[in-house]
Amino acid sequence: MISMTNVVELAYMASSLLFVLGILKLGKVKTAKQGNLWAAYGMALAIGATMLLLITRGDWSPREGEWTYQSHALALGAMALGSVIGWWMAVKVPMTSMPEFVAFFNGLGGSASMFVGLAEVPRAVERGQTLSSEGADFAVAVILAVLIGAVTLTGSLVAYAKLAGKLNKNRIGPLGSQGFNVVLGLVCIGAGAWGGFFAADPMGLWLSNGLLTLGSLLLGLGLTLPIGGADMPVAIALLNSYSGIAGMTTGFILKNNLLIVSGSLVGASGIILTQIMCKAMNRSLANVLVGGMGEAAGGGGSKDEGYTKVKSTSAEELAAVLDAASSVIFVPGYGLAVAQAQHKVRELAGLLEKKGCQVRYAIHPVAGRMPGHMNILLAEADVPYEQLYELDRINDDFKNTDVVVVLGANDVCNPAATNDPKSPIAGMPVLTVWDARTVVVVKRSLASGYAGIRNELFQMDNSLMFLADAKKALEDTITELKAL
Ligand code: TAP
Repeated sequence: MISMTNVVELAYMASSLLFVLGILKLGKVKTAKQGNLWAAYGMALAIGATMLLLITRGDWSPREGEWTYQSHALALGAMALGSVIGWWMAVKVPMTSMPEFVAFFNGLGGSASMFVGLAEVPRAVERGQTLSSEGADFAVAVILAVLIGAVTLTGSLVAYAKLAGKLNKNRIGPLGSQGFNVVLGLVCIGAGAWGGFFAADPMGLWLSNGLLTLGSLLLGLGLTLPIGGADMPVAIALLNSYSGIAGMTTGFILKNNLLIVSGSLVGASGIILTQIMCKAMNRSLANVLVGGMGEAAGGGGSKDEGYTKVKSTSAEELAAVLDAASSVIFVPGYGLAVAQAQHKVRELAGLLEKKGCQVRYAIHPVAGRMPGHMNILLAEADVPYEQLYELDRINDDFKNTDVVVVLGANDVCNPAATNDPKSPIAGMPVLTVWDARTVVVVKRSLASGYAGIRNELFQMDNSLMFLADAKKALEDTITELKAL
């Protein structure tokens, strides 16, 4: 006979399948939206099945002193509140602030795992036994859930503050120094071993696990503080992976297969993304973790007055240059997203194509503020996917291109990465836009980008600066081009 547990396990398997298929669909722009929805259906199914399990197992039956539906009301109330806050944030947060919110949500995932681990302490106190009395694997899972969850929580909060430009310190007292991190790591290992395997009395259990929690929270701060602002994309990918691993360990605590599967999926995909980001920035993970790159980074924007040979241009001149071109490459960057000018660039591209010009878009892997930012932005404006070229596929073609229009991009086309070994971004692969016959850089000022460094592109012989908001510049250029 099929029991309720069988039904729930089947629902969990269906959820896991939906998560995997959702990730597969996220791999292609055309199916990405559907992939997101499938994963969301998987999550809804998982929540529904878990509630069914809790109700039928009697986990929500009232205990002494509780009114009949107390547990139901608490759980449903928390879910409703969380859903409303999540919905409100998803709608309100602008696309350009998405990375800091991803960081923030990673932190929430970590804190959930930490609390699941800590919830086992009062149970052990009640039993008057060590955590390992439930099995050594159980004790290890609890320790890791608290340790990794707490590190993820505070690490993510630092990443959030750095990305939002609210924090640019790489030390707070001893926090952030490698030596102190080692001390904290040892404290966590010691407290974890004590709390998991030796403490059986209430005092010992609370003290050891309290010390483990405090040490891990501080370790999260200490590990993330030294990471430079410009390395934050890598740090976020890594923290994302940590939140998955922490989630997976809670699966072992709660004996929930779906948590183990979904946590592993997040952990593994986070690690893969970390590797991709490291490669895109030509950095080793160890180098990122030790920190230092782009200490001034986190928002850029400092006015750089050091340029002496900058040539300015206007909408009228840009329209004339584009009118005469037979090949044009647009390079979108963070500024295009800020200006929300994706529809305008598509419109301008359409006009050029009608004139027989070849139009392409060069996409740098870390352009913008999150992985895939530019792809999403251009997809919003229905830019044909075939016109999007990644760095490796386009760099050799700049030399055969008449005009490159850089739209609110800066660091991703900074020649210092290739010709100044002392530059903080030395070695990072960049779009070699300066190889084209003419480069027009559209941005509001000569200010630096995210990495906070000067860009020699602005005063190269074949460069023209169009200092304006990207949307306004494109609108004016479209008007001028139509008038030609
Ligand atoms: P940035 O180097 O940050 O440059 C963007 C430029 O856009 C700024 O110099 C700014 O100059 C300009 N801008 C801002 N608003 C504008 C507007 N309304 N109209 C026109 N221009 C505007 O951007 P990028 O080239 O895309 O490089 C991305 C950087 O962010 C890299 O350093 C990367 O490491 C970092 N990062 C990336 C990620 C991911 S995963 N993609 C995550 C975090 C950090 P003005 O102020 O003069 O206009």
